Amino acid sequence: MKKESGATLPVWMNHVQLPATKMLGENITCDVCVVGAGIAGLTTAYLLAKEGKRVVVLESKEIGGGETSRTTAHLSNALDEQYYNLIKLFGKDGARLACQSHGKAIDKIEEIAAEESIDCDFTRVDGFLFATSAEEQEKLMQELEALQQIGWQDVVMRKHCPVDTLTAFPCLHYPNQARFHVMKYLSGLAKAVIDNGGSIYTGTHVKSFKSGAVATVVSANGHSVSSNHLVVATNTPVNDMLTIHTKQAPYRTYALAVQVPKDAVADALYWDMKDPYHYIRLQKDTANEAQYDLLIVGGEDHKTGQHDHPIECFQELERWTRLKFPMAEEVQYRWSGQVYEPVDGLAYIGRNPGDEENVYIATGDSGHGMTHGTIAGMLITDLIIERPNPWAKLYDPSRVSLKSAGEFLKENLNVAAQMKDYVTPGDVEDPSQVLPGTGRIMRKGTSKIAVYCDQDGVRHQCSAVCPHMGCVVSWNSVESSWDCPCHGSRFDPQGKVISGPSTKNLGPAS
Ligand SMILES: Cc1cc2nc3c(=O)[nH]c(=O)nc-3n(C[C@H](O)[C@H](O)[C@H](O)COP(=O)(O)OP(=O)(O)OC[C@H]3O[C@@H](n4cnc5c(N)ncnc54)[C@H](O)[C@@H]3O)c2cc1C
Ligand code: FES
Repeated sequence: MKKESGATLPVWMNHVQLPATKMLGENITCDVCVVGAGIAGLTTAYLLAKEGKRVVVLESKEIGGGETSRTTAHLSNALDEQYYNLIKLFGKDGARLACQSHGKAIDKIEEIAAEESIDCDFTRVDGFLFATSAEEQEKLMQELEALQQIGWQDVVMRKHCPVDTLTAFPCLHYPNQARFHVMKYLSGLAKAVIDNGGSIYTGTHVKSFKSGAVATVVSANGHSVSSNHLVVATNTPVNDMLTIHTKQAPYRTYALAVQVPKDAVADALYWDMKDPYHYIRLQKDTANEAQYDLLIVGGEDHKTGQHDHPIECFQELERWTRLKFPMAEEVQYRWSGQVYEPVDGLAYIGRNPGDEENVYIATGDSGHGMTHGTIAGMLITDLIIERPNPWAKLYDPSRVSLKSAGEFLKENLNVAAQMKDYVTPGDVEDPSQVLPGTGRIMRKGTSKIAVYCDQDGVRHQCSAVCPHMGCVVSWNSVESSWDCPCHGSRFDPQGKVISGPSTKNLGPAS
């Protein structure tokens, strides 16, 4: 199932039986409408259904069809942002709460898997953050001190990493992290939503949102769901056009799964300290038939739509993998996905800024969407049930942090810089120059056109202007999609929207 770019489906997509679902075909009312059937949406739907709420989930694609199936599924509270930064941004108490919330999220996944008998390979493993230079070693020490300050006492510095080919420098050893098979978990979670009285509609793209005492969403085929509470768990909010999109930035990240001889690599999570960093874990063959384990390696992140040759990211990732893991054999899977980096390192979970009180969002996961998505489930459930939650202020999407103003400015200047695309020439001057299976931008008078040539040589043209806020999309040759470099909307080769913030397709070429 290889695409011409060399990309495959993610490692999780084989042998997973999803519960049967159908499209929304009528107008309905319910207590809570959740848009998005990824980990954030389904965890929220599950926990609310357990509280006795009538829950309806609407999903454009299929269960897990967004970024959740593209994860590498590290479950960790060793946060990417590093606790010495989080202390600067949120104080010791805030950093401690962040640490606790991710730890509780791992516990919650374990608890749900046990309670609902979801066989998802959930395994507690250790995590190792390793240095590869004296400078990074200093930072490790700084992080260890920060961890002591927030009371995480059982993280220790180790002289040697369990994989000696990774580094000769020390590492931090984090106990009690975990890994799981995300699609087995999500499939079980979806079944549990349905078993607890919830409904899941797939193939149901929500194209309009109307807030109010009763919130109403309308699907592309014209059916509506009216609810007392609306949870928009679409990875990046598709109901908010501006505020949140200035506080986070879309990045494309790459992953591969390579065979390694059974037990050649210790079963753990590994992260280096580069920017962007590499993230590594093992996927054991639980059926115990294969002679090898799969090593899942991720990294090579770049701003969405801002790399001219994304195939090089796979090549570089494989080169790095073979350098650090000489025992690596054949690459079995290669895929990429999108993550949203919040300017201050923590997700935005809670009431949608400037909206009615009963509209909630969950976004800005960085590399911790499995735990942030689970925190979203717990936190939004408490908000709806009107129970106090210790994390509500920390994750409040309305928060403003002057201490992260530098990062905010940097990301928004980057967005402003994309406007240059209006005055630059196109990649080609004539559609005939676009080769089969590829896409190119062409200038036509004052406008820019996205030209895609399909495998049969037929050329399709649409506007290259993103309907969200007007940036010019660029061709992603690895995923065969048009990606917006500003806030990460993505469109298929013919211009149909794949993911927001835009809910609309690219317009006609004019
Ligand atoms: C390569 C890679 C590696 C990663 N590794 C890790 C990791 O190791 N650990 C970790 O914790 N996180 C990791 N992440 C991040 C994590 O995968 C994501 O943050 C998380 O899956 C996001 O979950 P979600 O439910 O918010 O969004 P999604 O899974 O994207 O779900 C949102 C859903 O909403 C649907 N939707 C969107 N718009 C509409 C609409 N208008 N109408 C109806 N439905 C709509 C989409 O189809 C989608 O299914 C990784 C991500 C990538 C790409
Ligand atoms: S996603 Fe905002 S302009 Fe395209």
